[in-house]
Amino acid sequence: MSDKEFWEDFYSNKKGTLEPSSFATYVFEEIKLSGNLVELGCGNGRDSIFFAEQGLEVFGMDQCQSTVSRLSELNKENTRFEVQDFTALGDLGKFDNVYSRFTLHSVSKEQASRTLNWAYGALNDGGKLCIEVRSVNDELCGQGTEVGKDAYVTDHYRRFVRMDEMLEELRGIGFQITYSIESKGLAVYKEEDPSIIRIVATK
Ligand SMILES: C[S@@+](CC[C@H](N)C(=O)[O-])C[C@H]1O[C@@H](n2cnc3c(N)ncnc32)[C@H](O)[C@@H]1O
Repeated sequence: MSDKEFWEDFYSNKKGTLEPSSFATYVFEEIKLSGNLVELGCGNGRDSIFFAEQGLEVFGMDQCQSTVSRLSELNKENTRFEVQDFTALGDLGKFDNVYSRFTLHSVSKEQASRTLNWAYGALNDGGKLCIEVRSVNDELCGQGTEVGKDAYVTDHYRRFVRMDEMLEELRGIGFQITYSIESKGLAVYKEEDPSIIRIVATK
């Protein structure tokens, strides 16, 4: 099963919570996001819908047709959803915020780098890039079949991130780091308490 099939299957079985993530509520309340926002890999749309309900104009994208169709049919105010591969985006206009939660560890280092560079180009000056990813210090890192540096396949692919490397890359692209943290206790889901990285970078 490909990763795309894995996520199609995951969301067609309506797995995953519809509650907004604690990262979404954190960046909305503490970073005070406003304006428009593009979400890369929106999954079942829980965070996109949350941002739209707070008044942001939201463009959610995912590789999965089923979840994009379901979200589009909701006709929710301030939202639009499209099937897109976020690692190969062209000119989609300008955004005040690019939001990526638990998605950059779903793709290779090269694809993630392309995405970060795309985000810089797509942001307005002062715009925010909000990232939450699994860290190399996550207990899942090392489980499954090793397929590259810090990359493993269990039932799907994950490439665990080193915070210092990502911060250096973001600074190299031109971002300023507004907020960064690596910790457990931030993305608790059922029995899972992964070690994760949060970064907010400003153009
Ligand atoms: C772990 S889920 C996270 C979903 C959502 N951001 C959340 O926090 O609930 C990863 C999502 O990224 C999507 N995804 C992975 N690679 C993608 C790509 N290259 N382009 C678009 N979506 C992708 C998957 O289809 C899946 O919906």
